[in-house]
Amino acid sequence: MLHFTASLPFDRRLALCDIRGSIAHVEMLASRAIISAEEAELIIGGLEEIREEVENDRFPYDLDFEDIHMNIEKRLTEKIGPPGGKLHAARSRNDQVALDTHLYMKEEIKLIDHFLKQLQETILDLADRFVDVLIPGYTHLQRAQPVMLSHHLLTYFWMLKRDRERLAGALERSDLMPLGAGALAGTSFDIDRDQVAGKLGFSRLYENSIDAVSDRDYIIEFLSVSAVLMMHLSRLCEELIMWSSAEFGFIELDDAYTTGSSMMPQKKNPDLAELVRGKTGRVYGSLFSMLTVMKGLPLAYNKDMQEDKEGLFDTVDTLKGLLPLLSEMLETMSIDRPRLKEAIDDDYLCATDLADYLVRQGASFRDAHHAIGKFIAFCRREGIRLRELDAEKRRQFHPALAGEISALLDPVKVVEVRRSRGGTAPSAVKKQLQIARNLISEQEK
Ligand code: ARG
Repeated sequence: MLHFTASLPFDRRLALCDIRGSIAHVEMLASRAIISAEEAELIIGGLEEIREEVENDRFPYDLDFEDIHMNIEKRLTEKIGPPGGKLHAARSRNDQVALDTHLYMKEEIKLIDHFLKQLQETILDLADRFVDVLIPGYTHLQRAQPVMLSHHLLTYFWMLKRDRERLAGALERSDLMPLGAGALAGTSFDIDRDQVAGKLGFSRLYENSIDAVSDRDYIIEFLSVSAVLMMHLSRLCEELIMWSSAEFGFIELDDAYTTGSSMMPQKKNPDLAELVRGKTGRVYGSLFSMLTVMKGLPLAYNKDMQEDKEGLFDTVDTLKGLLPLLSEMLETMSIDRPRLKEAIDDDYLCATDLADYLVRQGASFRDAHHAIGKFIAFCRREGIRLRELDAEKRRQFHPALAGEISALLDPVKVVEVRRSRGGTAPSAVKKQLQIARNLISEQEK
């Protein structure tokens, strides 16, 4: 029974948060004369010794005590005797575990946000570095229109910006102090919850003791932010995987982030990118797991809620593990310029501009679309590029096509004219890049 119900194997990682929370609690108990100053000093001394044991991997974890909270209390009593038992006055493990998880969540969210900012900066650097490179832009994974590689990459900057905004929301909802809720109803001791909150750096308190011990929204919110983030990273990695295939050949990933095959000597597998894509599954899994755990629970605490931890910890580890690597992999990737030039040389990508040209010559867009469609179908059958068909033959599709159209078939020019705000012209992309850089530097102030 103990083996099955214990959370010690995984909630050990809350040990330092637990000690911080207990010290704040004890100081408050003493300041309210619920325990004496001498007792508080003794308890805090003991907790500090325990902190050292935890930090130096010397803490004697004991599975006979089911979780980290009981382990620490038992260890405290071993160290200082009966006064150790006074630590838990006016507190329950229900509000204690909630406090620990809030403290943990706040720390980890800040760290993850830091990694996300780094990834954004990496993307900005790449956008700078590749500012003269064009790639085919795709819809339906069919070549659509040429775009700047920087423009394409910056898309991920904006996704991450939204992820970070959502993460800030999750941080705000983690920044609520639950201690003082007791098991569920509060306590008859004259405690000072504001003091505890102030000491631990919380901005606000839970105003309802039942809510304080029943709430796992902040965890679900973090998991849901993480799920959206992973979806974004997975899309990025999917593109890197495709782009590094022989079929695309647009980029090459540095050897440090790929592996060889045990059988096929020619292979260079994008393992890191694949694993980021793959690990998206476990993050989604943790989100669904917690949504499901919570959906039928009556108020207030139920043991089911202990299931909040493994998925949360796993998600934190997954993000902290992959984010720095992803930045490094992007920083070190190289592009195959000749190959990209070849891809961009496909002048069918300029079809929209040809149609727009006919519209400017007075055609309706529908007629123009039809005429260019036939022009392209013809060239496709002949196996030639649009620019290879001479003016007289072009006339059959639309009289205006007999004029000089070579500028319209030049991808560089086609990109240059897309100067609308947020468009792919170099001038617009440079503006976009500046806006993005300003956003990051404002955060540094
Ligand atoms: N290990 C428990 C958890 O993680 C701590 C709270 C237990 N409270 C209780 N009344 N059994 O949720």
